[in-house]
Amino acid sequence: MVHNTNVYYRLTHTSAGSPMTSQEEIDESVTRKRWNDIYTSFDAVLTVDETMPRIVDLFVEYNVKTVLDLGCGGGRHTVYLEQEGFDVYGIDIAGEGVKKAYHLLTEKGLGAALSIGSIRNLPYRNNSFDSLISVRVIHHGRIEAIRKTIKEIERVVKPRGLIFVTVRKRVHKKERRPSTEIAPRTYVPVEGREKDIVHYLFTKEILKREFKNFKILDLQVDSDRYYCLTGEKKE
Ligand SMILES: C[S@@+](CC[C@H](N)C(=O)[O-])C[C@H]1O[C@@H](n2cnc3c(N)ncnc32)[C@H](O)[C@@H]1O
Repeated sequence: MVHNTNVYYRLTHTSAGSPMTSQEEIDESVTRKRWNDIYTSFDAVLTVDETMPRIVDLFVEYNVKTVLDLGCGGGRHTVYLEQEGFDVYGIDIAGEGVKKAYHLLTEKGLGAALSIGSIRNLPYRNNSFDSLISVRVIHHGRIEAIRKTIKEIERVVKPRGLIFVTVRKRVHKKERRPSTEIAPRTYVPVEGREKDIVHYLFTKEILKREFKNFKILDLQVDSDRYYCLTGEKKE
């Protein structure tokens, strides 16, 4: 594969997905602000998620070339997957995260197409990607907004394309950060770095139902208690 070593980022606005409600826009602007603050105040480069080597093996087995890193943040997986030889695209609402990803890629002489934008309205054509990863991202929001993201995932991934999505699992109230329940399974922390960001807590059954247009290849819980779903888009 001839590998592109250009890296750039752009701000995107698209109406490819369903229109957002004003509540969703408010929720997203809180998410953007909080994550921009986190990326501005936090300098360490995180190690890659423990599941990544297994996902790379699967991508190789499926002859994957293109990967979308949905909610790429500071780019730890964008970089890792580029280094593994994939052609990676990344998108995140937090410009400060995307800038970090850009600098990390540039330092390493790697290329990737990065965008600052919403995971509810992706700036890509239908059936663009062989695969998609989204690590600890899509549970940020209410279920109606999350469904828009899942529809977008279905739209941009090719038939028989692979997805790897991790989401927060519900934990016992005693172990949860202080938060307000604003709707069933939907919490807003009242303190901490993710204060005011809406979080939806999945169960295995809900994940299977919401990702019904994907054949579930694997669904397990990692050591940080995130559900990790590996799926293949049905034809
Ligand atoms: C826990 S971080 C994970 C970042 C990255 N996937 C990783 O594993 O390092 C969650 C990321 O999701 C992004 N995010 C949350 N809601 C989003 C939305 N509606 N549109 C785009 N990005 C969003 C945040 O900005 C943040 O960078």
